[in-house]
Amino acid sequence: MQVELELNGDTERFEAAKTDSLLDVLRKNGYTGAKRGCDTGACGFCTVIVDGKARNSCVVPASKADGSTVETIEGLGSQSDLHPVQEAFVDNTALQCGFCIPGMIMRSTALLGEDPDPTRDEIREGLSENLCRCTGYEKILDAVEDAADRMADESGAVAADGGHPGSGCDGPCGCEPGGGGT
Ligand code: FES
Ligand code: FES
Repeated sequence: MQVELELNGDTERFEAAKTDSLLDVLRKNGYTGAKRGCDTGACGFCTVIVDGKARNSCVVPASKADGSTVETIEGLGSQSDLHPVQEAFVDNTALQCGFCIPGMIMRSTALLGEDPDPTRDEIREGLSENLCRCTGYEKILDAVEDAADRMADESGAVAADGGHPGSGCDGPCGCEPGGGGT
């Protein structure tokens, strides 16, 4: 069967077996940022964002993902232009072996998309499906708090520049960052 995804901003079609999960489809096609841990929905290593929500891609059937908008770590930032959540994880040394980190970052990004200013307890609860065997979690919580501050600063800078407030602008105006807005 074929699965069509709006993947990291591009429309992509992939061949998939009926038994494939979304994680299978992603990894078979080179999107290996999502990691395979438990393969049963219990560790969060495979977290991606599906239609705006963090999902464990190992338990999303490929057939159910057909037509969905999917964001993976590959679409978040690049080595030369990291996303604020990625920067915050690096700057807070919130990683050791790194295996859980793509999933942590994707779930953190979804969390901050829903609530740009969560409390530490809300972050802890929001990340509770994602396991880490290395860090003890405290630095990860520090990183997400820091990312929230960075994203708020970026939104404020865009607003002060006369544009719309960053990710809050999803209107039909077509304004571009720094472009002055309408
Ligand atoms: S590999 Fe998907 S939740 Fe563990
Ligand atoms: S950094 Fe090693 S599992 Fe999280």
